[in-house]
Amino acid sequence: MRVTFIHADGKGRTEAEAVPGDILLDVAQAHLMPLEGTCEGQMACSTCHVIVAREDFDRLPPASEEEEDMLDLAAGARRTSRLSCQVVLTEALDGLTVHIPGESRNMQGAR
Ligand code: FES
Repeated sequence: MRVTFIHADGKGRTEAEAVPGDILLDVAQAHLMPLEGTCEGQMACSTCHVIVAREDFDRLPPASEEEEDMLDLAAGARRTSRLSCQVVLTEALDGLTVHIPGESRNMQGAR
């Protein structure tokens, strides 16, 4: 299965191969996307925040309340924002496109 990352500049893109069961954050980091993922999936940092393409968003299972709470603190969060550490890839998500937020270049303390 394939995932496309749109870089923070909005222009560059990286096509990544993944297998079902992979965590979106791990795939992003393996392809050198600038997502820190500081808390390693504990939903305590939001530095793994990505913006899912609008047309793909409904294919994802809904975010948990904890994830929603953490997304409220994410820099540049939008309606289709998700924490990539909480997204487990499945065949149903083949072709997923996610945007790396511009803010991830300088995330600390930014809003
Ligand atoms: Fe910290 Fe996802 S890695 S919330």
